[in-house]
Amino acid sequence: MTTVIRSVEEWTAYRGKLGKEKSLGFVPTMGGLHEGHCELVRRSQSENDLTAVSLFVNRTQFNNAADYDSYPADFAQDLAMLEALGVDAVFAPSYESMYPDSYRYMVSESSESLAMEGTQRPGHFDGVLTVVMKLLNLSGARRAYFGEKDYQQLQLVKGMVDAFFMPIEIVACETVRAFDGLALSSRNRRLSESGRAKAAEFPQILETAATLEQAVALLEEAGFQVEYVEEREGRRFGAVSLEGVRLIDNWAVDVTSSV
Ligand code: PAF
Repeated sequence: MTTVIRSVEEWTAYRGKLGKEKSLGFVPTMGGLHEGHCELVRRSQSENDLTAVSLFVNRTQFNNAADYDSYPADFAQDLAMLEALGVDAVFAPSYESMYPDSYRYMVSESSESLAMEGTQRPGHFDGVLTVVMKLLNLSGARRAYFGEKDYQQLQLVKGMVDAFFMPIEIVACETVRAFDGLALSSRNRRLSESGRAKAAEFPQILETAATLEQAVALLEEAGFQVEYVEEREGRRFGAVSLEGVRLIDNWAVDVTSSV
């Protein structure tokens, strides 16, 4: 049975009763669940005695109110998926419960968080790191699971955990893709049928273009609005929008093919 917890106080009481003997795996999400999230849950279940998932659409990480308002989370549907997976606990607090300080206190990183997603979405990573710090601290989990689709987020979370000596292991999980290569994302469901078909060209071009300039040119030609295409530390990153829907992705760069 899945225990549903709606406030920090309730969670703290629940967590206290679990004790420290059993290992807890934690999967932070904003809902709008898809197979990518299910993989994080299954990985946690295979490595821990218990698994908890948070469903919290974190307002502070949205720099755009319209994006927040249209975020496709459906609590009943998400809960049904987690129950079917056999998750032990779902933590779905209110904004007031998570931000008793009204976001006066925040965690920020002063370098990598300003690149790529940080340039396009000012303040985004302050909101992400702040809520992840709160969630991980509350969870008391041994491990937390993050997808590589949000690679920059993953690296920043790992950096925060190291910087603040947080006693938790961050487990990186491979990006889950649809049959045509599009990385699964909650936002994909906002694409029209033709937009969804077109979206598959994004990962293909990002992965195969010989140069960054070529990737940008091919993406624009295909009808995407390009926010950035960059290479950093052996990975190529891209963000585009299509029909007003943001898509991000990244691939390890095949160094042998460019020699
Ligand atoms: O990746 C996400 O869904 C969110 O950024 C996270 C980690 C749950 C924080 O709100």
